[in-house]
Amino acid sequence: MSAPTTFHGWVCHGKDAPMKWEEMKIRAEDDYCVDMDVTDCGLCGTDIHTMDANWVSPRYPLCGHEIASICTRVDSKVQNVKVGDRIGVGTQSGSCHRAECPACSTGNENLCPIQLFFTYNSVWPNGDEAYGGYADKWRGDCRFVFKIPDILSNEIACIVFCAGVATYAPLKRHNVNADSVVGVMGLGGLGHYGILWAKAMGAKVFTMSHNDRKHDVALELGADDYIGTNAAEHLTKYTGKFSHILCTGISPDFKWKTYTPLFKPNGVFINVNLPEWNFPEISPMLLVASQVNICGSAIGSPIEIEDMLQFAAKTVLKPYLPTYPMKEAPQAVADFNAGKPRFRFVLKDLLFVCVLSKYKAGGLSPI
Ligand SMILES: NC(=O)c1ccc[n+]([C@@H]2O[C@H](COP(=O)([O-])OP(=O)(O)OC[C@H]3O[C@@H](n4cnc5c(N)ncnc54)[C@H](OP(=O)(O)O)[C@@H]3O)[C@@H](O)[C@H]2O)c1
Ligand SMILES: [Zn+2]
Ligand SMILES: [Zn+2]
Repeated sequence: MSAPTTFHGWVCHGKDAPMKWEEMKIRAEDDYCVDMDVTDCGLCGTDIHTMDANWVSPRYPLCGHEIASICTRVDSKVQNVKVGDRIGVGTQSGSCHRAECPACSTGNENLCPIQLFFTYNSVWPNGDEAYGGYADKWRGDCRFVFKIPDILSNEIACIVFCAGVATYAPLKRHNVNADSVVGVMGLGGLGHYGILWAKAMGAKVFTMSHNDRKHDVALELGADDYIGTNAAEHLTKYTGKFSHILCTGISPDFKWKTYTPLFKPNGVFINVNLPEWNFPEISPMLLVASQVNICGSAIGSPIEIEDMLQFAAKTVLKPYLPTYPMKEAPQAVADFNAGKPRFRFVLKDLLFVCVLSKYKAGGLSPI
């Protein structure tokens, strides 16, 4: 099959500019390239931050980074996936791979200090732009592309490549287990996976949300209890309760002194949230006296993603993922901005979903 030179995707030309479906140049192949036809792409909080230029000035146009797909073509050095496989890619799609890199040489490619490439809003080493998954096709490096386990549908799998691993990896790294009591702050796309993973790891899980309308769905998701964070007095009765708090969302008036008393001795506050504002300062006295470990976590390494996929294949994951046809991406973004997701929107290419279901039923070759 000859390699395509263009693809079609939803692009954003600037904050508040209408998204447009356009034909664009696909990056040139190299020995490690995988081509995929996108079936599903999640709509992540990071997409909104990026489109709205909340962090730094982004490289417009942009489009999506939680991709599940069917593999349509592989280049000569690709061994981990083959044509016809269901495959996915998340936020990261490249790193330096140098032997002298302290991150890449130790399986921590997500922390590579030399060269990080992302699925969109990034430039490949050959100078071509990286575009994302609100699109019909994507091409990228097989070292950041993963085969989806049979038990996971593409609809569920697309989200695990970003929101999934961003919450799974730190919970696993910080040894969440049946003795843990985990607070998950912020019940959006990441928070809802945080609850699912922490429960599957055996922990007791409390949802901490500023939106009391989420009370019932938090319990439906499997949380053991719900804590409204709007009023600090709701929190005091949880003093000394938590071994871990996974922070996926906070309000700008967050105060350390409200939260540090909630930890058991040597508890861990794991931040994965990336708001436009900074955390407040923490006084040395509070840090010393509370002995809380405050840390962050960035997506996940390829090893952590493979580990998560194996874990997910053994777990019955029941996320809530409302879907939109890919052609309605601008409406999905507007609805996300209006706070409507419960909890993650998935954009679906309905033509490919149809092909995929026939393929799975043994009726049709996907290619
Ligand atoms: N570290 C990583 O590797 C990584 C990976 C992907 C995304 N992220 C970042 O993680 C964050 C969450 O992403 P997401 O996709 O889960 O976003 P999301 O679906 O919008 O969820 C974020 C949640 O945070 C809470 N929140 C947001 N703004 C708030 C405010 N002003 N006051 C109080 N609570 C607020 C809300 O939860 P409640 O209503 O329940 O309070 C909201 O549902 C984003 O900043 C994203 O960029 C990080
Ligand atoms: Zn994401
Ligand atoms: Zn590196």
